[in-house]
Amino acid sequence: MRILVIGATGVLGARTARLLAAAGHEVSGTSRGTARLAALEADGIHGIAMNLLDRASVDAAIAESRPDAIVHLATDLADLDYAGNARLRTEGTRTLVDAALDGRVDRVLAESVSWTTNDPAVESLERDLARVPAGVVLSFGLLYGADTWYAPDGAFTAQAATGVVEGITPVTNWVHVDDAASAVLPALDWPAGPVDIVDDEPAELLDWASVLAGRAGFDGAVQATSRGGGRLTDNALARSRGWVPTRPSWRDGLGLA
Ligand SMILES: NC(=O)c1ccc[n+]([C@@H]2O[C@H](COP(=O)([O-])OP(=O)(O)OC[C@H]3O[C@@H](n4cnc5c(N)ncnc54)[C@H](OP(=O)(O)O)[C@@H]3O)[C@@H](O)[C@H]2O)c1
Repeated sequence: MRILVIGATGVLGARTARLLAAAGHEVSGTSRGTARLAALEADGIHGIAMNLLDRASVDAAIAESRPDAIVHLATDLADLDYAGNARLRTEGTRTLVDAALDGRVDRVLAESVSWTTNDPAVESLERDLARVPAGVVLSFGLLYGADTWYAPDGAFTAQAATGVVEGITPVTNWVHVDDAASAVLPALDWPAGPVDIVDDEPAELLDWASVLAGRAGFDGAVQATSRGGGRLTDNALARSRGWVPTRPSWRDGLGLA
């Protein structure tokens, strides 16, 4: 299959693009500039410079790669730019859905998050994907593992080292970033609709915060706060379709590489 991975240099996208190429697919991957394209090519991925918020550049990337499937894994959270990230979910997704609706690609898979149902950008992404006959929304739990916020050198691990932890929800569904990436290959054949990609063990905020802070070297009483609310889920549907997390519990790796 010819696959266009949007965000192929990212924490999740790089792992995913490599797995898809290793499985024998013809993979093209995007980055906004040209500086990171050589690294993609070295991994057997055809690199294309493209900005998801620039419709002309998206159209050119689709014309160049002629994909059977597009995998939208572009996020923009390095500087906690939530507004910019929301645009990738709304405008960016819509551009890809338009390409599917006018017949330039059959399948579109897009990254979402498992923990909310009331974020307007997430709702927009999921509503748009539902318009694609072969549209699959992968709603990932909170990512941990190497290169994420919760790696030993990650921003939230550094914060936890002070004994203060800010969670998103009172109970969290986690997923290791390698397991998250491993869901995309089978999902190319899944029926349309949303699927939660999370590990087996939901985590109470104070429980995981204490583990993360302890691994970061803090040995006092942890102060943990969350925004409240949120959606809690499980991986029954993904497991029923053959996806199995190799790290069933966040306890084994949160705060480690
Ligand atoms: N479910 C989750 O928990 C979740 C999901 C996502 C991220 N995060 C956290 O957020 C941290 C930072 O993530 P991040 O998203 O900032 O960085 P990232 O994963 O390193 O990169 C995001 C990817 O999106 C691409 N991208 C960004 N803006 C784009 C645009 N306008 N058009 C096309 N592609 C675009 C980037 O491409 P170029 O930079 O090469 O142009 C890159 O490939 C991660 O380490 C992770 O911990 C968590």
